[in-house]
Amino acid sequence: MKKPLTATVSWIGKVDWNLARFHGDEYSTHKGSSYNSYVVEEGKTVLVDTVWKPYAKEFVDNLEAEGLIDRLDAVIAQHAESDHSGAMPELMRRRPDLPVYCTANGVKSLKGHYHQDWDFHVVKTGDEFDLGNGKKLIFIEAPMLHWPDSMFSYMTSDAILFSNDAFGQHLATERLYNDLVDQDELWVEAIKYYANILTPFSPLVKAKIEFVLSLKLPVNMIATSHGVIWRDNPTQIVLKYLEWCQKYQEDRVTILYDTMWEGTRALADTFARAISDVSPSTTVVSHCMSKFDKNDALTDVFRSKAILIGSPTIGKGVLTAIAGILEEIKGLRFTGKKAAAFGSYGWSGESIKIIGDSLEAAGFAMVDDGFKAMWNPDEAALKEAYEYGEAFAAKI
Ligand code: FEO
Repeated sequence: MKKPLTATVSWIGKVDWNLARFHGDEYSTHKGSSYNSYVVEEGKTVLVDTVWKPYAKEFVDNLEAEGLIDRLDAVIAQHAESDHSGAMPELMRRRPDLPVYCTANGVKSLKGHYHQDWDFHVVKTGDEFDLGNGKKLIFIEAPMLHWPDSMFSYMTSDAILFSNDAFGQHLATERLYNDLVDQDELWVEAIKYYANILTPFSPLVKAKIEFVLSLKLPVNMIATSHGVIWRDNPTQIVLKYLEWCQKYQEDRVTILYDTMWEGTRALADTFARAISDVSPSTTVVSHCMSKFDKNDALTDVFRSKAILIGSPTIGKGVLTAIAGILEEIKGLRFTGKKAAAFGSYGWSGESIKIIGDSLEAAGFAMVDDGFKAMWNPDEAALKEAYEYGEAFAAKI
C-alpha cells in the first residue's frame, strides 16, 4: 500500500524479499530487491513507473484499493525493462485510455515488449508535465543509463528526482530511506549495482551527472526504482557515481581463478601471500570462480587497480568458469586497470595466452606475459610464483 514521502507523493511499489537472481540468472541479489513505483497526487494524479510482471495484479489491485485507478491522469514510463513496466499491461487493461509518457525509445521498447498501441506521449529533455498546484514534472532523457529509453523526471517544489535505475541498489527493505538502513549493506549493494550494470556506460554517467548538476536544481530526494530513496544528503550518491565513473580503483588486487587438481589454486594462494607481504596496505582477494559468486567477483574487479586471472589448460583452452568471467569482464569495459594471466598445465599450456589476449582485448594494461607452472607446482615452482607475485606487486 501507499507510503507517503511528502504530502502529495507516495511510494507504491513492491518489496521483493525473495529475489535471489535478477536479469534472468545473470545478477545475484543476496539482499532481494524492490521495484519502486511512485504516485503523485496534485491537481493531476500521476503514476511514475510500475513493478515486475509477477507482482502486476497485486500492484494494480493496490492502486484500485487506494482509489487511484480511476483517478490516474497519466503514467510516466521512465524505462521499459520489465522490472518497471511489467504491470503496464494489467494497468492498461483496466485503464486503456491512460496516457503513457515516455521517450521515443520508450515507445519502441514498450511496443517491443507488449505489442500494444497505447496512448503514447513522447517526451524529450526539458519537456514538462503540468501537475497543477503550481508544480511540474520536468523530463530528462538519460539514454544508455542504462537502456536507450531511460529517463529521469524531476518534480519541482517538492524537489524530487525520480531517477529510475540510476542510483539504485538491489536491497529489500520496508524502510524507505537511505538513513534508515544498515549503511554497510547499502553501500555494498550500491557499488555492486554500479559495477555490474553501469560500468560500461561510465562516460555517459559522467556527462549526464555533470549536465544535471549544471541545472543547479535543488534536490530533496532521489527516488530510485530499486532499494532506498536517498533523502539524507541525497547528493552523496551522485558524488559517489562521479567517483565510480572515472576509472575508479582502490588499493586492491583481485585474483580470479579456477583449478582442476589444485595446481592453479596453489599459484593463486602464493600470489596473494606475496603481494600482501610486499604491499601490506594493498587489499588482496582471491576467488575460485567455480565456487564464488561472479557478480561479487566483478565488484572486486571494479574496485581493483590490478587483477590476476588463472586457469589450467584444458582442451587447449580454459575452464568454463574462467571463460565465463572473461566474457563478463569484456562486456563491462573496465578502464585504467592492470592485469596478468597465470595457470598450471601438463603439456601444452595455452590457457595463459588465451587469458592474456582476452584481458588485453578487454582494455587491461598487461603487466607481462604471465606465469605458468608445469604439472603440479613443486617447491621450486612455488618459490618462482612467490617471486612473480612480488614483482607483480612492484609493477602495479
Ligand atoms: Fe531496473 Fe533496467 O531495470
